[in-house]
Amino acid sequence: MNHRIQADTLKRGHQTGDPHYPNKIKLSICAFGSLFIFSYLDFPQVAVAQDQPSAIPVLQIEADQPLGKVSPTLYGLMTEEINYSYEGGIYAELIANRTFNPAANEMRFWSTSGGATMALDTNTPLNDALTSSMKLDASDAGNDSPAGIMNSGYWGIPVRPRTTYHASFYAKAANGFAGPLTVSLESADGKTVFATAKVNGLTGDWRKFDATLRTRDVEPSKENVFKITTLTPGIIWFQQVSLFPPTYKDRSNGNRPDLMNLLAAMHPAFLRLPGGNYLEGNSIDERFDWKKTIGPIEQRPGHESPWGYWSTDGLGLLEYMEWCEDLNIQPVLAVYAGYSLNHQHVNPGNDLQPYVQDSLDEIEYITGDASTRWGAQRAKDGHLAPFPLVYIEVGNEDWFDRSGSYDGRFAQFYDAIKGAYPQLQLIATARVKSRVPDLIDEHYYRSEEEMEAHALDYDKYSRTNHTKIFCGEWATRVGSPTPNMAGALGDGAWMTGMERNSDIVLISSYAPLFVNVSDIGERGGSMQWRSDLIGYEALNSYGSPSYYAQVMFSTHHGDTILATDSQNIPTQLWQPPPKHRNGVELPRLPAQQIRKIFFDATRDSNSGTIYLKMVNTLGIPQPVTVELSGILTVAGTGQAIVLQAVSPDDTNSIEEPSKIAPIAMTMHGLGKRFTKVLPPYSIMILEIAE
Ligand code: AHR
Repeated sequence: MNHRIQADTLKRGHQTGDPHYPNKIKLSICAFGSLFIFSYLDFPQVAVAQDQPSAIPVLQIEADQPLGKVSPTLYGLMTEEINYSYEGGIYAELIANRTFNPAANEMRFWSTSGGATMALDTNTPLNDALTSSMKLDASDAGNDSPAGIMNSGYWGIPVRPRTTYHASFYAKAANGFAGPLTVSLESADGKTVFATAKVNGLTGDWRKFDATLRTRDVEPSKENVFKITTLTPGIIWFQQVSLFPPTYKDRSNGNRPDLMNLLAAMHPAFLRLPGGNYLEGNSIDERFDWKKTIGPIEQRPGHESPWGYWSTDGLGLLEYMEWCEDLNIQPVLAVYAGYSLNHQHVNPGNDLQPYVQDSLDEIEYITGDASTRWGAQRAKDGHLAPFPLVYIEVGNEDWFDRSGSYDGRFAQFYDAIKGAYPQLQLIATARVKSRVPDLIDEHYYRSEEEMEAHALDYDKYSRTNHTKIFCGEWATRVGSPTPNMAGALGDGAWMTGMERNSDIVLISSYAPLFVNVSDIGERGGSMQWRSDLIGYEALNSYGSPSYYAQVMFSTHHGDTILATDSQNIPTQLWQPPPKHRNGVELPRLPAQQIRKIFFDATRDSNSGTIYLKMVNTLGIPQPVTVELSGILTVAGTGQAIVLQAVSPDDTNSIEEPSKIAPIAMTMHGLGKRFTKVLPPYSIMILEIAE
């Protein structure tokens, strides 16, 4: 049952020297009244009866009370290899398992045709990096029976009309077999051949072959395979079989355009990379060892990701930087700090020094000019210009390291990096005492109610701490594979809190970013973590309601945080769920009243526009009265952007990619005091002009 607090205060402002902003809530609760007789279909022009104005939530904006600057880097992206985010995701490679995962001795995603057989051959390496190959026995091939290998892609191969694909592979053959080989894109049922090309000239030595495949005016489809076949009997070895469609900004070895376009629409400020757990690896050997991810792709050995599948590292350190460059954003670089998920840690001191040096080399690879050793390597790898870099994160979630070594490890990295690059901002991932980090990374994965319960937390943080906040992983985990509207509402509540406090919350990123939704049921499928911001399969992609909430927040805010206050915010009784430690249930927290309406206000100092963000998590139309003070005039007409759903379970999907999407509308009747109705389950951003 809904309740409302009659006179509560949500006040960030009136800075009195008190480093904290107390959140005073008077628990004077009355039942939610039935006095509001209107239809929310009349939204947004509805005038609300004012016979009991004290019951209507009042949102006060003190336009002459700036609380601080909105961090220009508040909204960013977090990425790692999880849920087939790179392979089978943003990395545009279409061949799954292109290097025949040597760790698992597996030929997953591969099969044969025409009676051929295939086997992983660990005695015929391509080179020191790719130490195995696939041996194809096509002895039974004949003019009427082509034999060969085929790859089904990451749950399909997208075929689009009038599109050019670049195929390549390394091959060698036994006993004078020279080819030709036929390379083709075909429907999985074998009924349609979309494009073919021939390659000749195989010998007993490894050689790279390239082919161009161009489709005609076909319907887009994904139930397709990539094939390499022969009509001539023979034994052939293959390695690094690759097929690239056109990429974003035509980068070679680049990214998938539709996913990059979704990211670009978020106007992010940064990309946190390369993880997450993916940075740490299950063991030290399986960490993100950046030096093995650069240079020609056939020289990259790849590694096992902690999310249970192989990474070829085709998307390596340079590709991350180019991803940033293509979106015109900065990297937030996480450096491996000597701790892996199996609780292995490296002791501070001499043992840690090689890892510290690796991080210095990594920073030099990114920022050094061509006169430096690692800057020269980057230039050799194809990118002469250095990349911008401000933030370095030391490790990931090092609070899991129960050995207590993080303090010492952080200090060693801090001293070395600050010594060489004093301008860089260092982020700690757990509390440390030995040094004062510039930022600390906080992670929150919560239910909708938990997000609402904690949405005011940052109001209470110290303003005097040197250490600012990086909310490096956060998400309302409601809905799978991607969050539903309830997730977006929890996110909206949380983002009002971050934005209202972005004088101390300098950067933030939702996680995880991506999920391949092709095979989400079983272990070993395409999803390892539910509730991910953006979903896709081989051909199509979509943003979740949470994605659209972020697009709205990130693209509509001012540069100055305004003081706000409120009364009569409705609340609901919520019982926090039981928590467990080491399998034992901890004492239950008492039930608490949680707010159901959230808001914050910022102003653009150039245009004077005030951005009022309001989140109505209730399933009813909610009138709110907005009061602006400290401003001479308020334009009567403004712009509103609204995300809303009929049910909190409503969501987007491959089939309905835009079921929940923002709509823009003109809003009349604005002024220094006005009342509007927030639709049920909605996020509204109101642009109020002077
Ligand atoms: O985002 C999924 C995982 O959650 C990250 O890899 C890790 O940092 C966190 O525990």
